[in-house]
Amino acid sequence: MCGIVAYLGQRAAQPIIIEGLKRLEYRGYDSAGVALLSNGVIKIQKTSGRIAALEAILDKPNEGETLGLGHTRWATHGVPNQINAHPHKDYTGKIAVVHNGIIENYTTLKTWLQSEGVTFVSDTDTEVVANLIGYFYEKCDTGDKQSPLPKLLDAIQDTVSSFMPSLTLKKPQGQNKFEWAVQRALQQVHGTYGLGILCADCPDMFIGAKKGSPLILGVSEGEYILASDAAAIVEHTARAIYLSDNEMVIVTADGFHTKTIDNIAVTKSLENIEFSLEQIELGKFKHHMLKEIFEQPTALATCMGGRIDPQKDRIHLGGVNDYLRAMTHIKRIIITACGTAFHAGLVGEFLFEQLARITTETEYASEFRYRNPIVEDGTTVIAISQSGETADTLAAVEQAKERGATVLGIVNVVGSSIARATDAGVYLHVGPEIGVASTKAFTAQVTVLTMLAIELSRRRHISSDEATRYIKELTKIPDKISRILEQSEDIRKIAQANINQNNWLFLGRGVNYPVALEGALKLKEISYIHAEGLPAAEMKHGPIALIVDGMPAVFIATNGPQYEKIIGNISEVRARKGKTIIVATEGNDHIKQYADYLITVPDAPELLQPILTVIPLQLLAYHAAVLRGHDVDKPRNLAKSVTVE
Ligand code: AGP
Repeated sequence: MCGIVAYLGQRAAQPIIIEGLKRLEYRGYDSAGVALLSNGVIKIQKTSGRIAALEAILDKPNEGETLGLGHTRWATHGVPNQINAHPHKDYTGKIAVVHNGIIENYTTLKTWLQSEGVTFVSDTDTEVVANLIGYFYEKCDTGDKQSPLPKLLDAIQDTVSSFMPSLTLKKPQGQNKFEWAVQRALQQVHGTYGLGILCADCPDMFIGAKKGSPLILGVSEGEYILASDAAAIVEHTARAIYLSDNEMVIVTADGFHTKTIDNIAVTKSLENIEFSLEQIELGKFKHHMLKEIFEQPTALATCMGGRIDPQKDRIHLGGVNDYLRAMTHIKRIIITACGTAFHAGLVGEFLFEQLARITTETEYASEFRYRNPIVEDGTTVIAISQSGETADTLAAVEQAKERGATVLGIVNVVGSSIARATDAGVYLHVGPEIGVASTKAFTAQVTVLTMLAIELSRRRHISSDEATRYIKELTKIPDKISRILEQSEDIRKIAQANINQNNWLFLGRGVNYPVALEGALKLKEISYIHAEGLPAAEMKHGPIALIVDGMPAVFIATNGPQYEKIIGNISEVRARKGKTIIVATEGNDHIKQYADYLITVPDAPELLQPILTVIPLQLLAYHAAVLRGHDVDKPRNLAKSVTVE
């Protein structure tokens, strides 16, 4: 996933683009660049490394340069270096492109363009798009080209001729040549893109185009900012249009209009960007991840706000209301997601089965999409995604729809691709999550799943009193999280005491088993310590061989039906000199004899415990990463949303 910004207005473009890229740096940060257009020349400055490295090489901002593109990269094709950094120019030097996504047929297109004498300088798929636009721009109205195949190797010829039998190079009368060239090029492209495009001959114009990667155009007085995420727009305007797949926006000093890439006019209405600038600023916190961990009490209160009616003890999920009646009689739920969202889904599986008595399974989206899934009548699929742009989850949604399932989304980013692809859904409403390691989104996803499960169970079989009890307990969760957060310094000391251990185990039972998986993922992805999450009873089936003197084993041993069993697992670790870090229920003195380190959480009904027991594990991972000197918000090799397969 990469960050894209384009600007056209009355102000110097460069500083606006750079500030926008900084707000998108969590999307990718291995190289960055800026293209500025003035006096018919596109000036590109780019470098490997972060945006700070780019700032170090940039010319001083020029008030006359009011049109430009910017990009911060998470490499897919081509190593992260200066040559492969975006923006990319075409072979004629008239076109510049920034791109987020993957062009799946770029090798075929590149081979064909090379057979037409087009030269390349990088290893990226993006340069193919730039050159393809440049090719159509240069060849426009030079007479239709018969099948451009004579020079290609036989092996490629059939492939290319299958979708490029002959090239129409005749532009419709009166259409802008740049706009036409972009359309013709994108008609040849397979894959995903969010694009910002400039043309040296069009000094007051840029084009954006979208397919499978997010693209938003911020609109204010005589200023237009295109970006892959509203975070780059919100400090300039709260008014925006969200492009849909196969759409393009043509922006000039006089305004903007939208079309499909097949040149069909499209009307887009301006929407309000939901969050404010302060929500993406760090404030008093050192990292976005810490801010988002500490935001969870208010974030979950907001997530529940307007959905739980404390007077009537009723739950109102407007986004799925029309589906709830039909869901009352559904036979099966399939939850599909990736990473942390998958772990939230595993908690949801317990909630739907234990509370609503609905057969539920949770599938990795990357597996679901390729396993020719069985989706019988009466199946609802729930896709969970913070970003709403995860490629595997989006593909799983399409698969489920093709198989006739009703597909609901539990998503944080409003207007994201998954939110738009599902039949209905529930937004998390917890504000932008900038830290790559997901925290408040996880607890919010579980909160939404809990509300949905309570509402379904109330409609199916549990008594209103039991539903009311769960609702009241759920509304107490934010305050309980605040109490856990007060232990942050103690948790930092636990991390410090174990910081040199390179292998950890995380163990839980029942509904806390997914929390063990989540705790392991948090530690892995930001401290780079290897960690494994397991159902606690599984340890004796192999992993116990890993236990060595001093090895940390994090147990979730809160009050519940399996408490005694987990004490047995804890004893197995202690017998082999492992170090036990235990998350237990407040007031449990019995557990102290088993804990080398103890973190307590307030009591709660077993099914609501994951929203609490995950908090200490988020803090443990955060402090370990800081103590190891890592960039917590931008961990190596990761991006906030994986918009590629
Ligand atoms: C979690 O901390 C990671 N950032 C990652 O596993 C993430 O949860 C996963 O990529 C899914 O992202 P999504 O929720 O935006 O779809």
